[in-house]
Amino acid sequence: MRRIKIVDLLKGTAPGQDVLVKGWVRTRRDSKQVSFVALNDGSTIKNVQIVVDADKFADELLKRITTGACLSVTGLLVESQGGQQSVEIQAKEIEILGDCDAQTYPLQKKGASWEFLRDVAHLRPRTNTFGAVFRIRHQMAFAIHTFFHQKGFFYFHTPLITASDCEGAGQMFQVTTKNLYDLKKDENGSIIYDDDFFGKTTSLTVSGQLEGELGATGLGAIYTFGPTFRAENSNTPRHLAEFWMIEPEVCFYDKQDLMDLEEEFIKFCVQWALDNCQDDLEFLNKMVDKGLIERLKSVVGIDFMRLPYTEGIKILEDAIAKGHKFEFPVYWGCDLASEHERYLVEHHFKKPVILTDYPKEIKAFYMKMNEDNKTVQGTDVLFPQIGEIIGGSVREESYEKLTNRIEELNIPMKDMWWYLDTRKYGSCPHAGFGLGFERLLLFVTGMSNIRDVIPFPRTPGHADF
Ligand code: 4AD
Ligand code: MG
Repeated sequence: MRRIKIVDLLKGTAPGQDVLVKGWVRTRRDSKQVSFVALNDGSTIKNVQIVVDADKFADELLKRITTGACLSVTGLLVESQGGQQSVEIQAKEIEILGDCDAQTYPLQKKGASWEFLRDVAHLRPRTNTFGAVFRIRHQMAFAIHTFFHQKGFFYFHTPLITASDCEGAGQMFQVTTKNLYDLKKDENGSIIYDDDFFGKTTSLTVSGQLEGELGATGLGAIYTFGPTFRAENSNTPRHLAEFWMIEPEVCFYDKQDLMDLEEEFIKFCVQWALDNCQDDLEFLNKMVDKGLIERLKSVVGIDFMRLPYTEGIKILEDAIAKGHKFEFPVYWGCDLASEHERYLVEHHFKKPVILTDYPKEIKAFYMKMNEDNKTVQGTDVLFPQIGEIIGGSVREESYEKLTNRIEELNIPMKDMWWYLDTRKYGSCPHAGFGLGFERLLLFVTGMSNIRDVIPFPRTPGHADF
């Protein structure tokens, strides 16, 4: 007999036939003559109930049906007598595929803390919550490809190893095959990289954008979707050292087009979750965040607020004047802290905000300069609970303005020749953004720590598993 996944079984296999299921014991409940085993195979948050008649099986075998054990069960599918489920399986044959020691299995107890579960991240996919989160993670990845594919954007693969620092923040992990115990240095004490693997200093990428722009200026519209790395020592619930980013880049888009794309894209993803992840969302709504589904629906149904940075600062200054206390100072030119972003989104507008036209000093070199020569055409999307979920901008397409900016910021021009060529040869207006995949997942799942929406989080001091 062929094994059937529990998701398919529950979707409408007619009772009255024998079925074969395989999975892990979630719980076992005993009454006098029968045991009720909740079996889960990961295909759905739902378990199937296995009814085990003690008379029909050896005690030796019954003893081995413990929480976490892996079973193969053949039995008759019948309509369930209990209220919880529509069907259940009356076991005829049970094989223990993998025993699970009740004394040492870490997932015995219900209600383990998120911190504890992070320490057993190798096992946490077996819990209800992480099963739900990782199924939703898959669905969101699928939604993203669907969205861009339907719009005619091409999936463009950008390198993970790079010799340039897209964001210019110097938060890069170096890649080298050099013997760190025996480094050759020049007379100034600088390490010589000529004989390193790539013949120069290389790092893991912080963003695929620069190469994405190269793709876009040939293919018209591209998106990347891959891991990015940042060696920033940020121990917050919203930062990872390794996270996944989606970066569309589109030619002939202006600021308006870009904001429209950002808004449409997020709404599409959230609607996809509502349409395709009902069971998992209902579970998370019940167990993790009571307002989750409500919040997802509300975001899909409203227009995001679009607001220049300068006006945002005024609102924050007004709030301070009226007695609101922030930890970090607010002034024109400051980089907004997450408390400021959340004030605008959660208190003031009560909806997502696209903040635009930032002071050039707090943004990367590639952003298009406004006529005031002070602000650049950035378009970040700020979200309730999360703060910044998207960072985007129109790109500076003028060769002259871009090289001036690069010089001002002391970025080594010789390393950027290939990027500057896009502005030198047939330059075009273009724009793009980056969405942090895990930040989107925080929003969609209602989880509160970014370490809990990626299977194996990398953060300062943590690279287990
Ligand atoms: O705002 P960022 O730094 O923008 C860029 O990297 C641009 N090159 C994107 C582009 O225009 N193509 O990062 C983009 C997004 C942020 O809005 C945030 O959602 C996420 O990436 N992000 C992080 N997510 C998790 N952990 C971190 N350390 C993150 N840093 C940024
Ligand atoms: Mg940003």
